[in-house]
Amino acid sequence: MTTREALLALFEKNRGFFISGEEIAQALGVSRTAVWKVVKKLQKEGYDIKAVTNRGYCLSPDTDVLSAEGIKEHLKERYSKRATIDVFRTVDSTNNVVRQKALEGAKSGYIAIATSQSQGRGRRGRTFYSPADTGVYVSFLLMPPEFDDAGVVKVTTISAVAVCKAIEKMTGKRPQIKWVNDIFIDGRKVCGILSEASYNLEDSAFEYAIVGIGLNLFPPKTGFPDAISGIAGSVLDKPGDISRNKLVAEILTNFTELYFSENPLEYVEEYRKRSFVIGKEIDIISGKSVSKATAIAINDDCSLQVRYPDGTEEALQSGEISIRVQH
Ligand code: BTN
Repeated sequence: MTTREALLALFEKNRGFFISGEEIAQALGVSRTAVWKVVKKLQKEGYDIKAVTNRGYCLSPDTDVLSAEGIKEHLKERYSKRATIDVFRTVDSTNNVVRQKALEGAKSGYIAIATSQSQGRGRRGRTFYSPADTGVYVSFLLMPPEFDDAGVVKVTTISAVAVCKAIEKMTGKRPQIKWVNDIFIDGRKVCGILSEASYNLEDSAFEYAIVGIGLNLFPPKTGFPDAISGIAGSVLDKPGDISRNKLVAEILTNFTELYFSENPLEYVEEYRKRSFVIGKEIDIISGKSVSKATAIAINDDCSLQVRYPDGTEEALQSGEISIRVQH
């Protein structure tokens, strides 16, 4: 652990309380000057740390700088001990970061988080608008044995439920899911999820999966770009009023608990309750073709049961549907 990481962890544990420079120096095994230098750096990064003579340093309870230490502070100890989390100000795509880490030997559970992405990817080759200070972009790695052939739809749908539950706990709003993994509040998409997997043809086995979650927390200063302004929305109407560290911790905790739940259908029930497509007329988009159907059920494997106008039915395992949303 670096001095910076140790100091941040100490501040997070004592948010709102002063700790003397001497106490910190002793706990970290460094000089008071070294503490002061790191405090200066953290202040430059946006941490509101008060420095008062004879009292020491205090991390303001309102500081909401995303950090591994800040997230871990809200994780249960058994998760925080094992979690490897990297937080970046900006990256091309957090899914790319995780893929690179996987190639370098990162362990299952590795998490990359960014506050902006220059090349955020969406499904079906689309870009995912990821400007600074409006959203949180989170990707994590799953590997066998945790992840196997049965897991592709499962990781995506569990992630959707995990995000919905976290938003609801933190804001009281009730997000809903548009199959497979778009999350809506008040008819607007506030979160998209992109799961990517690497399959080894020689061994006929999955090597790893990456789940990427893009959450629009606040409206961008200049509004959403025209191409998505009709559909995109944000969880909150204005910045503030939420701890991003806590929100991310909630998402990760929900995912872990649902993914490893003894009741494998626990998340499906929640997914069904939040799904707003059932009974609706939908367009099924497959490549360049579009077919009309009615969504009739979410099956236990989270496939979407649809009925075509000729009465035949199909369980869609993946793909994209569109539905007319009332604003
Ligand atoms: C979609 O709605 O089409 C899926 C969007 C997924 C966006 C997230 S943001 C974190 C991760 N990194 C990416 O480049 N994409 C995913």
